[in-house]
Amino acid sequence: MTLIDGKKTAAEIKEEIKAEVAGYIDEKDFAPHLAAILVGEDAASETYVAHKESDCKSVGMTTSIYRRSKDVLDSDLLDTIDFMNSDDDIHGLIVQLPLPRHINVDRVIDKIDPAKDVDGFHPVNIGRMVLGHSTYLPATPYGIMELLRRYKIETSGKNVVVLGRSNIVGTPLSIMLSRKANPGNATVTMCHSRSAGLKEIAANADILIAAIGQPGFVTEEMVKDGATVIDVGIHRVAAPGTKSGFKLVGDVDFEKVVRKAAYITPVPGGVGPMTRVALLLNTLKAFKLKTGIS
Ligand code: GUN
Repeated sequence: MTLIDGKKTAAEIKEEIKAEVAGYIDEKDFAPHLAAILVGEDAASETYVAHKESDCKSVGMTTSIYRRSKDVLDSDLLDTIDFMNSDDDIHGLIVQLPLPRHINVDRVIDKIDPAKDVDGFHPVNIGRMVLGHSTYLPATPYGIMELLRRYKIETSGKNVVVLGRSNIVGTPLSIMLSRKANPGNATVTMCHSRSAGLKEIAANADILIAAIGQPGFVTEEMVKDGATVIDVGIHRVAAPGTKSGFKLVGDVDFEKVVRKAAYITPVPGGVGPMTRVALLLNTLKAFKLKTGIS
């Protein structure tokens, strides 16, 4: 069994990015700049944005955070995006989700300049991804593709089962893995809450990707011997007797499934760090596009 070490792989990629950014700072005296819009005071969003900021700083990138109150008007938010779209010093622009319910998320995402949409959420970039054109890939699928690539896990002709059909993980990942590319060329089945026979389908997978959002959902019987198991979930569950009183677990019952899998990602330290580094890769790409570096 090989543990797919996302933490180590992400650290290696960060070193590569840091070296490249240092070169641009030497040569051009400016660095890639990621700007984030944070609306309201959602605790999880605060943490995610703080991570994004520290990740950028750790590789020499510039960041800025534009805070808006939870009562912000749609029109003010759209104006802020307009302003940021036209600021040549900003290369990547993200709006942290979720947004308060009164805001139309689709209109907000549509407003982001696709050239700056380093989350890869804009319909233009999703269209480009579907067609296999160069674009910004959404961070979690991008990070998973990078793990498959770097661990040389064969996907061509394999049965891949993706559990979950979210717009930011299950759906784009299913498309990427079925495209004529490497990684890719897989036979992909995407399962969701209405799928009949989900357990049997999962048990047939050469590569099983769990992005269903339920702790420990994937049990031993759902995994074929020798399968690759990628766990996208991250949940805080009570752990009496530990110092913090909780532990982090994924969508996979790791202790049991690890006995059957040939490759498996741990939680934490698997997909999570790769998701974070993927945003840096996209920001670097946006910077290179803007400055004409190929
Ligand atoms: N909220 C949860 N994940 C994400 C993400 O990848 N990007 C943004 N902008 N918001 C999120």
